[in-house]
Amino acid sequence: MLEAPPLLLAAFSLGLVLLVLLLCHSYSGFLLICWNEFVLQPLYNLFMGDTKEQRILRHVLQHAVAGDPQSVLEAIDTYCLQKEWAMNVGDKKGQILDAVVREQRPSVLLELGAYCGYSAVRMARLLEPGARLLTIELNPDYAAITQQMLDFAGLQDRVTVVAGPSQDIIPQLKKKYDVDMLDMVFLDHWKDRYLPDTLLLEVSSHLVHMGLSVGGCAGAAPG
Ligand SMILES: C[S@@+](CC[C@H](N)C(=O)[O-])C[C@H]1O[C@@H](n2cnc3c(N)ncnc32)[C@H](O)[C@@H]1O
Repeated sequence: MLEAPPLLLAAFSLGLVLLVLLLCHSYSGFLLICWNEFVLQPLYNLFMGDTKEQRILRHVLQHAVAGDPQSVLEAIDTYCLQKEWAMNVGDKKGQILDAVVREQRPSVLLELGAYCGYSAVRMARLLEPGARLLTIELNPDYAAITQQMLDFAGLQDRVTVVAGPSQDIIPQLKKKYDVDMLDMVFLDHWKDRYLPDTLLLEVSSHLVHMGLSVGGCAGAAPG
């Protein structure tokens, strides 16, 4: 059997170490999120006996004012800045979202990806009387949290929360949810669904006045 010369082995090992260091450096943010989401978070949930999303909701119920959407947003932002990172759109991009909603003044607004309801509260608080928001969330636990968030913020009358995959719900918008036309769509679910769902909205014969993608998984990093 051929043996690799020790110098070659050492060079190979050094190269490997450098490659790992380079990858860690280039993807440090991503690796930190993975470490947090897939290692620390499950351990913490096990220890606490609840989930991060339940903790966010509990924080809102304890620190925000019922019927005051602004205080709900502030409570979520504070919690996610100081305690646990979460994939809400966050205040920075939220201000861009506010500006678009104010400018477009949609009568019927669709959101794909509600998570805990942060952006739903954000957009619904700016809707004009009679306007409505429909938000679709894949995960039924998140959809339930979103509903409770909206109830607490006093926005339940202008928002319909639908649990299920966007690709199943979009074709039902007209018949089941009485949506004739969409004035604005906020795409904030998984990125690989942005294009197929936009095309699906087109073929589902909704006249979409405007498409908006502020982008998902952005939020405040933990302090
Ligand atoms: C970035 S988070 C949404 C954050 C939320 N818009 C906010 O700012 O508060 C993405 C959410 O999209 C949901 N999602 C992913 N794929 C989906 C799909 N095909 N249909 C509906 N929701 C989906 C995920 O469960 C997750 O809760």
